[in-house]
Amino acid sequence: MAVRPARIAILGAGNRGGDVYAPAAAGAPGLVRVVALADQREERRRLVGERNGVEGGRRYEHWRALLADVAAGALELDAVVVATPDAEHVEPTEAALALGLDVLLEKPIAPDLAGVRRIALAAERSRGRVTVAHVLRHAPVFERLAAGLRDGALGRLVGIDHVEHIGHWHFAHSYVRGAWRREADASPMLLAKACHDLDLLRWWVGEPCERVTSSAAPRHFRSEEAPAGAPERCTDGCPVEASCPYGAPRIYLGRYGGRAVWPNLVVTPEPTEASVLEALRNGPYGRCVYRCDNDVVDHQVVALEFVGGVRASLTVTAFSAEMTRTVRVWGTHGEAAAHFGRGVLEWHDFRTGERRLEDCGASGEAHDAADQALARDWFERVAGVHGDDPGATDLAASLESHVIAFAAERARREARWIDPRV
Ligand SMILES: NC(=O)c1ccc[n+]([C@@H]2O[C@H](COP(=O)([O-])OP(=O)(O)OC[C@H]3O[C@@H](n4cnc5c(N)ncnc54)[C@H](O)[C@@H]3O)[C@@H](O)[C@H]2O)c1
Repeated sequence: MAVRPARIAILGAGNRGGDVYAPAAAGAPGLVRVVALADQREERRRLVGERNGVEGGRRYEHWRALLADVAAGALELDAVVVATPDAEHVEPTEAALALGLDVLLEKPIAPDLAGVRRIALAAERSRGRVTVAHVLRHAPVFERLAAGLRDGALGRLVGIDHVEHIGHWHFAHSYVRGAWRREADASPMLLAKACHDLDLLRWWVGEPCERVTSSAAPRHFRSEEAPAGAPERCTDGCPVEASCPYGAPRIYLGRYGGRAVWPNLVVTPEPTEASVLEALRNGPYGRCVYRCDNDVVDHQVVALEFVGGVRASLTVTAFSAEMTRTVRVWGTHGEAAAHFGRGVLEWHDFRTGERRLEDCGASGEAHDAADQALARDWFERVAGVHGDDPGATDLAASLESHVIAFAAERARREARWIDPRV
């Protein structure tokens, strides 16, 4: 099939849209061209627009205005990236699908089951295809684990123990001070952070989940846990500032040195030591973690049973030293263990007694390599390289992780097991 660069627009040019997918697109000029973008923040429209050569008239304040121009024939597009906040995924995706456009949809698909169903229905009626940004399916260490399990390296699969180590400072940033701190404004923590992990579990097992239950609570980041004398902001002379692991200056100026990298890019659009400090004095990211308006849980355990008898557990925790994922898999004839950040996969074969290490490439804390691989794969798809192949993370393959997450949340609130399929 002939390949021509697809014309794409970024809806929501924030961290993901503007700092991940737009630069990835700039690196693949033979496959895609960013011809338009929409963002409510003027500085993001300017920054991302300038970096990607998007002309002024094609920088929209709202995704609706951008898609209205497509509908009117004033803007020609092949596909859009939906990277707006969680609560603003359903409508732009429905609208883009109604115009027949392909969509790269940031996870979560939608914050609730009704929204997921709306998108599924819109996709059924459209020639446009939805790819979900479950980027971890493109992480080499997890791809190799999936391939080994498929090839029977462990015999028959028995169980999986998967842990998502959010990282204590990362949790404070995103889930206490940041955009994912309140369930009503974003989504349950399990969906926001661990739909990737539920998707990986479903993928590795290769069967539907038939029973799920869960336990969790907002444990630590509450006013009752505040140290004596802690003020509203870390910069207001907090008596424990030097020893508090969650202190904002310690995270943004210490760990991340005030540099122009995530998470500082979220704190202020053009980070320097001075602009970060200014943002901590006045903005949401300088607030004491014990005095925020957060309500999401900070430690969650999920138990899952799959058709065919595989049992899995997933722990998602704020209280980790590392920001990574680890997994241990047990089969009738072997055991495997993987560490995402180190990119190492360890295989034990009970039949031969062999222990084998696979080095899949360290990724460190971030999932940049997986982001790039997913973006590249989608660019190829919208440019027509893969014909009708829907890819690894199309909507149909991605839906189940969300259905399991909603069932786990219901199971946790009602303290029982639930079959996600009903
Ligand atoms: N795949 C992953 O691993 C991964 C990682 C982080 C975040 N995410 C998801 O990506 C999405 C975006 O997250 P982010 O970190 O980039 O957030 P962000 O806040 O940095 O970016 C969102 C942008 O959308 C813009 N926006 C809001 N409403 C808009 C509208 N009506 N029209 C146009 N623009 C609008 C905002 O101004 C903002 O710049 C979220 O759904 C998030 O959960 C996915």
